[in-house]
Amino acid sequence: MTEPPEPAPPPADDDGDEQDVVEMHEPILREHAEPRDGNESIPVWLIILMGALLLWGGFYLARYSGDWRSDVLDENPHARRPLRAFTPAPVDPMQRGEQLYTIYCTACHGYDGRGEPGRYPPLGETEGVTGDQRVLAAIVLGGVEGPLEVRGEQYDEQMPAFRDRLHSAELASVLTYIRGSFGNEAAPVEPQTVAAVAQMMRARQRPWSEAELHLLREGLERYEDETEVPETLEEVGIEP
Ligand code: HEC
Repeated sequence: MTEPPEPAPPPADDDGDEQDVVEMHEPILREHAEPRDGNESIPVWLIILMGALLLWGGFYLARYSGDWRSDVLDENPHARRPLRAFTPAPVDPMQRGEQLYTIYCTACHGYDGRGEPGRYPPLGETEGVTGDQRVLAAIVLGGVEGPLEVRGEQYDEQMPAFRDRLHSAELASVLTYIRGSFGNEAAPVEPQTVAAVAQMMRARQRPWSEAELHLLREGLERYEDETEVPETLEEVGIEP
């Protein structure tokens, strides 16, 4: 006969050796996890501060942006006044003429316009300078070659052409200058007159001879007004 097995004897008492598991884990649980870099949540106070700054920034821009217009935003508006329309100061032809004369003519005719005896004629009180301004313009535009009598003296050198070196307005001021200096008191020369003479001479490349200048002077006498200039040299009987 088999007897029902005896209930297992209760486990031998541990004699107080037994420790509560919960109690055992307590120290472990008390310890917090090691803090790790980079994972902290943003503190609430910082979020509030940033929100406040954003609000203030938005308000500041809305209040002071001035619609982003440059004239409103300019810290120093006086430095940016619209440029005045540029109008060059009117040039005094006598002054301009003197400058150009000094550059282009003094080498031969001298600062005082007295020239050099036997080589370069004087420019004071001579028919060429104070006479018909169209002839004067023709001389300086085209140059002169060969014998030329000035104030009773003979010259036989070359007067260079300036048609390619100075434009009409510059030549007009040089001529105005010599007609008002060195004892001369002749009327000023207008740029239009020089331009018209240059146009009349456009087919001509040679320098003038004394005989041709004489012909030119006579031919122009028909056009009494010294600012009136024929279209071509043929009209005053000169072959270009
Ligand atoms: C390289 C020297 C030289 C330069 C530079 C020169 N000339 Fe002359 N000029 C002469 C000579 C030489 C004559 C005389 C021409 C001749 O002998 O055929 C003369 C003659 C003249 C005459 C004619 C004078 C008269 O009464 O008939 C005028 C006007 C004149 N020059 C103006 C000028 C002007 C204005 C300039 C400057 C833009 C100028 N010259 C630059 C050498 C020069």
